[in-house]
Amino acid sequence: MSEGATTIAAILLETVPGTAGVLIPPPGYLEGVRDLCDKYGIVLIFDEVMCGFGRTGDWFAWQNPTFAGVQPDLVSFAKGVNSGYVPAGGVIISDSIANAFTDEVFPGGLTYSGHPLAMASIVATLDAMKDDGIVENAAAIGADVLGPGLRELAKKHPIIGDVRGVGVFWALDLVDDRDSHAPVSGAVVGEVKNRLMAAGLLPFTADNRIHVVPPCIVSADEVGQALAIYDEVFTAIET
Ligand SMILES: Cc1ncc(COP(=O)(O)O)c(C=O)c1O
Repeated sequence: MSEGATTIAAILLETVPGTAGVLIPPPGYLEGVRDLCDKYGIVLIFDEVMCGFGRTGDWFAWQNPTFAGVQPDLVSFAKGVNSGYVPAGGVIISDSIANAFTDEVFPGGLTYSGHPLAMASIVATLDAMKDDGIVENAAAIGADVLGPGLRELAKKHPIIGDVRGVGVFWALDLVDDRDSHAPVSGAVVGEVKNRLMAAGLLPFTADNRIHVVPPCIVSADEVGQALAIYDEVFTAIET
């Protein structure tokens, strides 16, 4: 048999897909995937390389109460775990899966696994994040400054077709028409990008989206400056 649940070892998904557009899972979605995995004995893996370690305002995106706190079996991580100071990544393994290797030892190894420099950078980064309340900062910025500010911009500028995000992980869709959600052309995205850069803001654009993903240490003042630049550039584009 080449199809069916028994042929599926694992489902791997980004808790909040990042590059695809900062897609916040709709209510019940992750619970539904978890239920299917439990029903069919499938391992659930969350890729938190982009959305983990504070980006969504929690240590891990799956801990956000709006996603119902679904527990994965494995979590992959990298980037934010040490702010990228040294290349490092890893996988968090649930007890039940880790215990499987007690009897059945996995005789594997990697040249650089557990490299002391990379591990030290992780410990130092996590200590600094805890001491400085960086995850709390990301949550507060998202809830009080960045989220409300982007929604205000969307009320004012018809070019913004959708605003979505959480913590310091947001995206704007740029559209020609809000009702049909028809995307703006590449030329318009290019013009927006050039104007943002000329005004001192370095944006990340993909298709017709701007991903608004500042560092977790961003301050309310810095977000305010960025919002003012977006406002100015959208006003210029629309006139
Ligand atoms: C969501 C996601 N998963 C996985 C990866 C790959 O991570 P790494 O390069 O640490 O293997 C990336 C890299 O950009 C990513 O964004």
